[in-house]
Amino acid sequence: MCGIIGYAGNRDIKKLLVESLKRLEYRGYDSVGIGIISDKLNVFKEVGDVSNFERKLPKLKGNIGIGHTRWATHGEVSKLNAHPQISCNNKIAVVHNGIVENFKELKEKLKGHKFESQTDTEVIAHLIEENYKGSLLEAVCLAIKKIKGSYSIVVISEDEPDKIVGARNESPLIIGLGDGENFLASDIPAFLKYTKRVVYLNDEEICLLKNDSIKIYDLNGNEKLKEETIINWDIKDAEKSGFPHYMLKEIHDQQDTIQRALIGRIFEIEREIKFEEIIESLLTNRYNNIHIIACGTSYYSGFVGKYLIENLTGIPVYVDLASEYRFYGIRDNSSLVIAISQSGETSDTLAALKEAKKSGCNTLVITNVIGSSATRIADGFILTQSGPEIGVAATKTFTSQIIVLFLLALKISFNLKNIGTQQLYEFILQLKELPRKARAALDQSATIREISKDFFKERSFLFIGRGINYPLALEGALKLKEISYIQAEGFAAGELKHGPFALLTKNFPVVVIVTKDISYDKILANIGEAKARGAKIIAIADQNDTDIEKYADIVIRYPSVSNMLACIPISIILQLLAYHIADLRNCSIDKPRNLAKSVTVE
Ligand code: G6P
Repeated sequence: MCGIIGYAGNRDIKKLLVESLKRLEYRGYDSVGIGIISDKLNVFKEVGDVSNFERKLPKLKGNIGIGHTRWATHGEVSKLNAHPQISCNNKIAVVHNGIVENFKELKEKLKGHKFESQTDTEVIAHLIEENYKGSLLEAVCLAIKKIKGSYSIVVISEDEPDKIVGARNESPLIIGLGDGENFLASDIPAFLKYTKRVVYLNDEEICLLKNDSIKIYDLNGNEKLKEETIINWDIKDAEKSGFPHYMLKEIHDQQDTIQRALIGRIFEIEREIKFEEIIESLLTNRYNNIHIIACGTSYYSGFVGKYLIENLTGIPVYVDLASEYRFYGIRDNSSLVIAISQSGETSDTLAALKEAKKSGCNTLVITNVIGSSATRIADGFILTQSGPEIGVAATKTFTSQIIVLFLLALKISFNLKNIGTQQLYEFILQLKELPRKARAALDQSATIREISKDFFKERSFLFIGRGINYPLALEGALKLKEISYIQAEGFAAGELKHGPFALLTKNFPVVVIVTKDISYDKILANIGEAKARGAKIIAIADQNDTDIEKYADIVIRYPSVSNMLACIPISIILQLLAYHIADLRNCSIDKPRNLAKSVTVE
């Protein structure tokens, strides 16, 4: 989705804006633009990537600037439709993330205004111009009162060359506080190199930034005092650290991020799992059921969570796609609703969460971003503590979400007295082993690359598993299709004969996730059935499984872990498989075509 940066300060403005836009590239975009105020407003825009744009820029000076990476929603991908969009008098420039739902209606009312683009954003620039009576802040305030929809906007004007005005409604906008400089961005990595001090804007708040001050107001002009938050992310986390892609770096981060998801939550000596007070109190209630709502990869971690929570607590868990739940989900106020979103900003997830809250459910969110919108809607939040994830395809946040879900399952189970202190202690010991197991899975990278060489030209893949491995098969297929563009589908292994068999031809690759659990014999039978129809079997199996070689054509080993936790090293292996296949196909791994990291529009 679109990325936004605004800057007030004395650094080299061109360099700063371009660098920040590069850090926002991961969100996905098709065109780029900046607006800088020197003696007048200068706007530059291009279709294509930031590096290409940078090469075409002249020398630029100024102390106030805005930048934008656009992911087209209204209007084709073109230079005219790129942001900033400007007013008729060429004095006001606006960058925008989101959708103005009533833009056609507003356009008709703006008599005498000549529109040059097909965007909804241009209407905002003209509306501000129409309302401008000497104060940019007031004009923006009046304009956004007329806008329906979700937006974050950042505005500058030639007439007030030391100010930036920003506003948000249902789309993230974050202030970065510096020393003699201030930032405004859609996402923290845009300014993380310069400051870790942030202030989050809430919906219907508007801010006025200068290099030495920030002020925040509600839409009635009342000033609001807000606390700053210190982000504990490191800029190194947002860089590639010598890896060819962010995704590979983030896959390798997992030994560390798994550890981080456990820190401050498992206590070996006390034999306890602890969350913050608010979460603890949410977990002491007796729930008839638990609803998990999420999108994309987070949905699959929720699906893994269903197996973990049901197994450990006996409470039925329903996993819903947020885009479905928000309209069709059953809202039962005796249920706990857990929303999962690495960004905490996915539009459908936020809408579903709001619906759940409205119905009186207790709500809890698992996210990677402190201060994100979801954390402010839910009754409580748990951070995955994975550091920024830049690759569009989620990897480290997926395994950390699963760990948090596992901890929740253990805590609820303990509260219900399903497991006692000794059992809890044994699980804690297994959890402590996990970073080492992740390392062992990562050590398989070279082997997986070799295997990938035999498969990277394939056009289709099937992924199958049973039980907790079923959602892993879905996620494995999603990962492969997202970054390699190979058609890949995941199925519960028992479903093969109800359709997918029709696809099998000689050497059709089928990835089978095998764990030695109650359905082990059944999965071996599924392998046999697929092989009988010509399929080539790539099994992901426990290192101690000595029988599997007799069934599968190729075996990738994961380190032995208890069945419930095997999902972690298996996920890493699936991620590596997708990565190496995509890399051999020379795909744009970190920024797959048509996809965005943070889907803040519906
Ligand atoms: C996009 C991303 C996926 C992500 C999904 C949900 O589609 O490309 O990687 O899983 O959004 O995002 P969330 O931030 O809510 O987890």
